[in-house]
Amino acid sequence: MSNIVIIGSMNMDLVVITSRRAHPGETIFGEEFLTVPGGKGANQAVAAARLGAKVHMVGAVGNDSFGASIFQNLKKEGINTTNIQVLSDESTGTAHITVAEGDNTIIVIPAANARLSVDIIQSIRKLIEDASIVILQLEVPLTTVAYAIDLCNELQTPVLLNPAPAQALPKDMIDKATYLTPNEHEAKILFPDDELEAVLKKYPNKLIVTEGEKGVRFYDGEQLIHVPARNVEVVDTTGAGDTFNAAFAIGLTKGYKLKEAIEFANLAAGLSVGRLGAQAGMPTLEQLIQVQGEMDEKNRRHQ
Ligand code: RIB
Repeated sequence: MSNIVIIGSMNMDLVVITSRRAHPGETIFGEEFLTVPGGKGANQAVAAARLGAKVHMVGAVGNDSFGASIFQNLKKEGINTTNIQVLSDESTGTAHITVAEGDNTIIVIPAANARLSVDIIQSIRKLIEDASIVILQLEVPLTTVAYAIDLCNELQTPVLLNPAPAQALPKDMIDKATYLTPNEHEAKILFPDDELEAVLKKYPNKLIVTEGEKGVRFYDGEQLIHVPARNVEVVDTTGAGDTFNAAFAIGLTKGYKLKEAIEFANLAAGLSVGRLGAQAGMPTLEQLIQVQGEMDEKNRRHQ
């Protein structure tokens, strides 16, 4: 069984569903409001656990009701929560999400996530050493992310850095990550001076650029590879990137080749957008296998 350590954010997502966005100074009526657990770290943890991995979540929440429900939710998904800090003088992170016109916009208040310190990473050295892979994102302090990547390198544990939300990163951090999975927009911020194809060629079998419904691109050392996304009905894209990252990591730990791991991840991400809320649509391994089987059957019939 894959043994995955996820170091990252946990938020309560406060989601407004509306037919359009309000203009500055305007008040409009929305359609629905949801309070659901989210945060890139926690979303990736839930996606990985549903796909059958043994998952340790490492992060920080406040000693408040949002923190308590996030804890409960992770436990319900079978995720190990021993290394989650509960800070008595800080609130739990929140994400203020508007779902409108087929897409989302998100404002994150990091709160406790901003206090995830290097100390906690030092304290999980053994966990990192024993992990099949460690996954990190950028909703916790960059110093903590950098320290965790260094430790993974020292302990020879593969490390996947999902550089989201977008920000410029030091080159050595990019170099030290085993896999880097920006979306198109994040890739432009990471590599502002080069065309995407040139950048992909600089990082063979490491830089995986996700382009939503257009699929995923990487360079295998010989040629540029494009892995198409599945054509799916979209209800809410929140958490699709997180599902992709978790499933991709699982694919790798199962020994899949890079392209196969991306196909597995595309399938999982495609299923995740079918329901409202970051975690609601994330598939279980059984659901994924069933859809995979149906697709294989369809392809056979069309041959
Ligand atoms: O990637 C989606 C997540 O980003 C949301 O759940 C929200 O919490 C923000 O962190």
